[in-house]
Formats: sequence, structure tokens, C-alpha cells
Amino acid sequence: MKIGICSDHAGFEYKGRLMEYLENKGYEIKDFGTYSEESMDYPDVAHPLADAVENGDADLGIAMCGTGNGMAMTLNKHRNIRAGLAWNTEIGALVKQHNNANILVMPARFISFDEVMRITDTWLNSEFEGGRHQKRIDKIPVRQA
Ligand code: RB5
Repeated sequence: MKIGICSDHAGFEYKGRLMEYLENKGYEIKDFGTYSEESMDYPDVAHPLADAVENGDADLGIAMCGTGNGMAMTLNKHRNIRAGLAWNTEIGALVKQHNNANILVMPARFISFDEVMRITDTWLNSEFEGGRHQKRIDKIPVRQA
């Protein structure tokens, strides 16, 4: 499985550590940046990650910024992206089981790296439940007022 990953400066340290953790587990990782702790704008890395997941260059994605909200807002502008913000393992499971999130977003400034690893493992190992949740997902796409 190929996983695309990105962060802004707030998530940079965790991104590097998570890439190493996942590579050691056998996942293929594609890094969309950022590549230093220098302050940057999260949409500059979120959009390329979303493009990669939408066009199949990555099977799933992981994104981190300070709160996770900037990444989630940007990623969810893409029609076929369901970016889910998770800050504990229970939500990490539910965001796959109920929302079939194809990008996991985590708030780097508000959780430990141990939590990042456990949330990521939980999300990767959870299965979408389909059924009534598929019906709800089908109603998500953007509507014009
Ligand atoms: C950066 O200071 C911060 O605004 C960013 O990491 C993120 O939390 C935005 O949503």
C-alpha cells in the first residue's frame, strides 16, 4: 500500500517520525512536504496530497498541521477526498468505519507522538462498514445553492 503524507511546519517533526515508523512496517510512503520547520502555508502541500489520492498515485493519505483544521478544510475541498480529523484512537477507528476517510488528519500540536502512532495504526487497520454509512457518504458532495 502506498501512503501519501504531508504536514506544515507544525507537523514537520511528527511527519518524519511517522514516515520512518510506517516504512519500518512495510508501507510505501510518498512525502509531499513540507521539508523543514520554516513557516509555510498548509494548502501548498494539502492540495498535491489530495490530487495524488484522487488520481490513484497514493492509496491513502495522512496530513498533520497544528490543529488539523487547516489541512482538513483544504483537503475536503476535493470532491473525492474524505479527510477525517482524529485526536484519539476511538475517533481514528470511527473515521474509517463510518466515514471511510481516505485521508487521516491529526492535530500535531495537541497530541503526543505515541498517540499519532496509535491513531494511525487504528485507522489503517479499521474497515469501512458500508450500509447506512455509504448512503450518508453519497450525500456529501458539494451542492450549489
Ligand atoms: C500554524 O501556526 C497553524 O495555524 C497551522 O498549523 C494549523 O493549525 C492550521 O489550521
